[in-house]
Amino acid sequence: MILVTGATGTIGSEVLRQLLAAGHPARAMTRDPARLAGTAAEVVRGDFDDPDSLARAVDGVEAVFLLTVARPPSTRHDEALLKVVGDATIVKLSGIGAGEEFDGGTVGYWNLAAEQVVKASGRRWTILRPSSFATNVLTADGRPVINPTGAAQQGVIDPADIAAVAVQALTRPGHDGQTYTLTGPELLSVPQQVVQLSEVLGRVVPVVDVEPAELARQLTEYGEDPASIEAMIRGVGFARAGRNAVLTDDVERVLGRPAGSFADWARRQFGD
Ligand SMILES: NC(=O)c1ccc[n+]([C@@H]2O[C@H](COP(=O)([O-])OP(=O)(O)OC[C@H]3O[C@@H](n4cnc5c(N)ncnc54)[C@H](OP(=O)(O)O)[C@@H]3O)[C@@H](O)[C@H]2O)c1
Repeated sequence: MILVTGATGTIGSEVLRQLLAAGHPARAMTRDPARLAGTAAEVVRGDFDDPDSLARAVDGVEAVFLLTVARPPSTRHDEALLKVVGDATIVKLSGIGAGEEFDGGTVGYWNLAAEQVVKASGRRWTILRPSSFATNVLTADGRPVINPTGAAQQGVIDPADIAAVAVQALTRPGHDGQTYTLTGPELLSVPQQVVQLSEVLGRVVPVVDVEPAELARQLTEYGEDPASIEAMIRGVGFARAGRNAVLTDDVERVLGRPAGSFADWARRQFGD
């Protein structure tokens, strides 16, 4: 049995879909099982902040897709799961640039710390460090895409490719102790993504540039906690400085075919 955490989210839902499509037994964890009603997977109520629910979720699993989004950023959710899980393979979703020093701080410090917690746990592990998700430019109907990274380019990746690599690491040998930095095949800025998205949609998608200070102000107004905002702004600054203009062939090395392009993702999402 394979446990998928974050099973209602962007990556976890795709990991679940691909595991089921390939015939693997999968258990989907969510705080609200009603959200997964009708899925073919076994669904379990699990909350990283509720140890009893976590213990039930991990019962009998051989592998875990581990995705955490603790606020403020910390390793507490990773630690909570590792405390209750048995001898299982852990495929940990981290992020590109984790541990890079920038602007007086450490980019993705919580991801780096979580990687270290997983590695020190004595379990078999694979770390996935994806670049910016293609889905980041999805907005509610008609709303402009918010662009905090200016003209900076990143190796934008199709979430389905992240999930496909996760599925390999969860189900096939040869990935233990590997850290994969996952990118798409080309460097793209947000405006460049929006041009491609507009072509697929057949209408101009509006895009609005937002400076980091303004983004921080908006997030504060939205009620986000200061540590999360600082972490987000450092990541944005890192990208704006061109430090995330990184391409790798790790997707191809694992999957045996090149990573899908942003345009392919957009066509799959919105094309006829
Ligand atoms: N966006 C990017 O470009 C990017 C790039 C690199 C790395 N990342 C990393 O990707 C991760 C986010 O992945 P995503 O976008 O797929 O997530 P997402 O769509 O935001 O979904 C978050 C998931 O976390 C679950 N969750 C939240 N709090 C929980 C709790 N207390 N207990 C159990 N489950 C909880 C939610 O499940 P329920 O609500 O159903 O319980 C949901 O399925 C983050 O760690 C981020 O650092 C993102």
